[in-house]
Amino acid sequence: MQDTLLGLRGKRALVTGASSGLGAHFAQVLASHGAEVVLAARRVDALKAVASKIETYGPVQCVALDVTDAASRAALVRDIAPVDILINNAGLARESVALKHTEDDWDVVMDTNLKGLFFLAQALVPGMRERGGGSIVNVASILGLRQAGGVLSYAVSKAGVVQLTKTLALEWARHGIRVNALAPGYIDTPINRDFWETDGGKALISRIPQRRLGQQEDLDGPLLLLASDASRYMTGAVIAVDGGHLVNTL
Ligand code: NAI
Repeated sequence: MQDTLLGLRGKRALVTGASSGLGAHFAQVLASHGAEVVLAARRVDALKAVASKIETYGPVQCVALDVTDAASRAALVRDIAPVDILINNAGLARESVALKHTEDDWDVVMDTNLKGLFFLAQALVPGMRERGGGSIVNVASILGLRQAGGVLSYAVSKAGVVQLTKTLALEWARHGIRVNALAPGYIDTPINRDFWETDGGKALISRIPQRRLGQQEDLDGPLLLLASDASRYMTGAVIAVDGGHLVNTL
């Protein structure tokens, strides 16, 4: 892959929330395309399990990170070498209808998905500039572009990620840093797998124009595009990867 635009040899990439699900998958995809990867999440033991599966591709570093904690973000920036690529993937949801949503639900979701994402990117920018620029890929969601019941703070946080992506793209273009977002639709991952067997899960899948869930591998092409020089003239873009879910009929 070194010889193609999508090759990442010589690039160093940090993936947040790399201990499970999409983050673990993204780390493997980047490593298999030549990047040196740094895996970050709160549980280093879980990161080490992920690292053991991708070390065959090259060096992998595991670093503890709580994106909601300023000291933890600062420690990460101190302990790793500057990166060229940041995959801002760590995220969570607290599900409840709006009338039952607590202040704690709101704070945890916003602090993780939006505030932590921004301040981590901000802290990594000086290092990226030292390396001549970089690419930031924020993991948003189609719920940042449309809405569904029961995920209020999640949807608002992801809408914030969409706007943050565009604003940072504008401000950081002058530093050689591109900022784009992936907006996945519903992707089959270990934590949501049981849901797809329920009536509600099946009804949801029937509303996706392609009539199937996304698989983690469906994100590989868009991820590599945004992470690599293949997207060198793209910044501020939000790419939906959703089997057409956003364009379903009214
Ligand atoms: P997941 O729960 O398997 O992974 C989330 C990761 O974020 C975990 O590694 C977790 O440890 C980490 N994390 C959570 N809070 C953290 C914190 N304070 N500091 C550091 N790491 C933290 O979930 P999944 O599905 O892999 O989600 C990954 C990203 O993709 C999230 O941003 C999510 O919103 C987004 N997404 C997922 C979709 C799906 O269908 N699975 C669809 C659209 C977006």
